[in-house]
Amino acid sequence: MDVRENSVVVTGGASGLGQASVRKFIALGAYVVIADLPGSAGQELADELGERARFVAADVTDESQMRRVFEVAGELAPLRVCVHCAGRGGALRILDKEGNAGSLQHYEDIVSLNLVGSFNVLRLAAEQFAKTEPVNGERGVCILTSSVAAWEGQIGQIPYASAKAGIVGMTLVAARDLASRLIRVCTIAPGIFDTPIISRLPEQVKESLGKSVPHPARLGDPKEYAALAAHIVENQMLNGETIRLDGAIRMGPR
Ligand SMILES: NC(=O)c1ccc[n+]([C@@H]2O[C@H](COP(=O)([O-])OP(=O)(O)OC[C@H]3O[C@@H](n4cnc5c(N)ncnc54)[C@H](O)[C@@H]3O)[C@@H](O)[C@H]2O)c1
Repeated sequence: MDVRENSVVVTGGASGLGQASVRKFIALGAYVVIADLPGSAGQELADELGERARFVAADVTDESQMRRVFEVAGELAPLRVCVHCAGRGGALRILDKEGNAGSLQHYEDIVSLNLVGSFNVLRLAAEQFAKTEPVNGERGVCILTSSVAAWEGQIGQIPYASAKAGIVGMTLVAARDLASRLIRVCTIAPGIFDTPIISRLPEQVKESLGKSVPHPARLGDPKEYAALAAHIVENQMLNGETIRLDGAIRMGPR
């Protein structure tokens, strides 16, 4: 899929992996809608990038706000790509120190944001892709974001790991379901990337996290995530697959 003169939606586009993806697709000649929370730096980024970038404040779990995001993208140019990066963790133990059961509400909130939000984005992106004329045998590509925590979640990551594993499970079904519409779906499962979540950690901690990666023994650069997203878009045979982007890290128990 050639994104030139087509539109791309990037959720969580104001920061980290999403922001790198926004910059990549602008550089490739697309119109990009940055969908992120109202308090994010999305408008500043759109102002910096000029007329091809738009910010639309939206929560990925909200149906009408996300529908608006895809409508704005469809008005700019045919929507061909959605890169869904919005997400976050949230620590939860099954039992707290006193032996009380962990909060069901907190579990539901994190699963809702990461997993239900992914389905909301996927289905609304697909609805907009389906309205377009196929080009070179396809209509659109949706890229979801999981995590290595889908397979190797750490203690405290129970809602996040459950949700990220759910995204892995969603990927092949979605690709099969949307094949007749000529829409592809892939997922990227990053290891440890140098985004604002990690940047806030002390330098020493960052260094030791980087050294825990077999090769290259460093944190991932968000540009490497964006480069893979662009390759998935370009390569028609990539479909229904979750790709680990992690320098061979396999998180051991802590
Ligand atoms: N950075 C890593 O090491 C890493 C590793 C594995 C997976 N991931 C995943 O990659 C994705 C991006 O992570 P990042 O490191 O770039 O994080 P980040 O915090 O830098 O960016 C996430 C963006 O998502 C936005 N966001 C959060 N909740 C939202 C909502 N409900 N609606 C709309 N936007 C929302 C935030 O405002 C923020 O701009 C996340 O899904 C994360 O779980 C990151």
